[in-house]
Parts: sequence; C-alpha cells; structure tokens
Amino acid sequence: MSYSNDKPLNIVAVSGGLNSPSKTESLIQTILDELAQAIEINVKFVKLSEIGHLLGGAIYRSQLPKQVQDDLAAIEAADALIVGTPVYRASFTGLFKHLFDFVEQTALVDVPVLLAASGGSDRHALVLEHQLRPLFSFFQAQTLPIGVYATDRDFTPEYTVKSEALNDRILLAVARALPILQWAPAKGLREQKVKAKSEKANQDLSINKQVEQDSILPSVEVPDLDVAEARLHHKKTIAV
Ligand SMILES: Cc1cc2nc3c(=O)[nH]c(=O)nc-3n(C[C@H](O)[C@H](O)[C@H](O)COP(=O)(O)O)c2cc1C
Repeated sequence: MSYSNDKPLNIVAVSGGLNSPSKTESLIQTILDELAQAIEINVKFVKLSEIGHLLGGAIYRSQLPKQVQDDLAAIEAADALIVGTPVYRASFTGLFKHLFDFVEQTALVDVPVLLAASGGSDRHALVLEHQLRPLFSFFQAQTLPIGVYATDRDFTPEYTVKSEALNDRILLAVARALPILQWAPAKGLREQKVKAKSEKANQDLSINKQVEQDSILPSVEVPDLDVAEARLHHKKTIAV
C-alpha cells in the first residue's frame, strides 16, 4: 500500500530540559529548522521546562491536567519524534522519563525517533546509546541511526548553536533521517489509529501497571505481527 507524499509529517519534539532558556531546546529547534528546510512538517514542541511542574506528583494519567494529556496524545499520534534531554547525572532528566512513563506502551511501535542530548562534558556523549536508545527500543520505536550530542561549548552565550562540528552533525542526522521518514509516511493516519488508545490511557493508565504485549498496534504500513511471526515459526494464522 502506498500513501501520497503531499501531506506534511506531524513531528512532535520533546525536550527534557528544565531551564529556560535551554541549550537542549535550542539544539532541538535547530534540528527542526534543518528538517523543515528539507520536507514539509507540522511541529508540536513539548517542553518539560513548561510542563514539568504539572506532572511531577502524578501516578495516574487521569491525575494530569488536560494540557499534559493532550501533549501525551500528540506524542502517541506523531508521525515521528525528535527527543532531546540535558544529561543529568549521566542520564535523561527524571521528568523526561516520568513523561515517557505515561506514554502508552504500544503507541510508538515503528515510529521514527531522532535522539538528541546536551551535556556539560564530552564524556557523556554515549547517553544517546546507553540511556535514550534503550528507552525507545522498549517502545519498539525506530530509533534513527544518527543521534546528536552537544556540549555547553557548542553554544553561544545566547544559546544558539555556534559550533561547525555540531552543525555538521545535525545536517548528517537529518540527511540520514530523511529516507526513513519518507518510508514511514503514515502521515496523519497514525492520529486516527492511536486516538482510542490515548483516550483509554487518559482514563486508566497508571505508571505502575504494565499492558499485555498482544494489544500492540503496529503502525499502518507494517505487516501484521502474527503473520510476520508465523513466517518465522511456521505457525498457522488466520488470513488478514
Ligand atoms: C543536576 C544536573 C546534573 C548534571 N549532570 C551532568 C552529567 O552527568 N554529565 C554531563 O555531561 N553534564 C551534566 N550536567 C550539565 C548539563 O547537562 C548541561 O549543562 C546541559 O547542556 C544543560 O542543558 P539545558 O541548557 O537544556 O538545561 C548536569 C547539570 C545539572 C543541572
């Protein structure tokens, strides 16, 4: 099945930065600007610097204000995500993780995710591989091959990107993302597929409860998981 390419991609960016201004937010914005040069995109930018205080104490998604529930629904319905976080204690910020603990466990299957982080030191660059990539692998998302790591030295005092090496890395990450983003043109269709999941999650998702794997919803262009598995294990399946 093929989809027309004339719809813009719905990109949701998420920053785990708690400061404002924030180098992480600036890094993500630079990536978004570069992507927008190459393809048509709609952007929603979810910033923990703005919503962090609204979700800190919540355990049930129903305890979250509508603004945060809407942000979660947007994350779940995105055609692709760009996620970034400052490094705090060698990992993502606690509130970044807390936000993703509320994301419905099966909503991000196959969704392309570009990983970014900003730290004080070069020595924590592997936070992309050791912290962010496993988190999005858990969601069975499609983490993009090139992530972007910046350090404080890459920014001007006004927090704009000044380093040529970082700009080159951003260009490379976007260039390598494009074929995958173009392959995954479920553009706009994910929203209607995932809507019911988001609504249900708003009512009964608690971060201390797991959901069963069988309720996984593959993204629209991916073959049915049972059929794919049957090819491997020679299981009998019902035709779909
Ligand atoms: C609580 C805290 C912990 C931090 N831990 C680390 C760390 O483990 N490794 C590192 O490289 N930088 C660390 N940093 C530095 C920040 O990651 C860095 O300054 C980042 O660019 C800040 O991004 P922001 O402007 O978006 O807040 C830490 C900063 C804070 C406030």
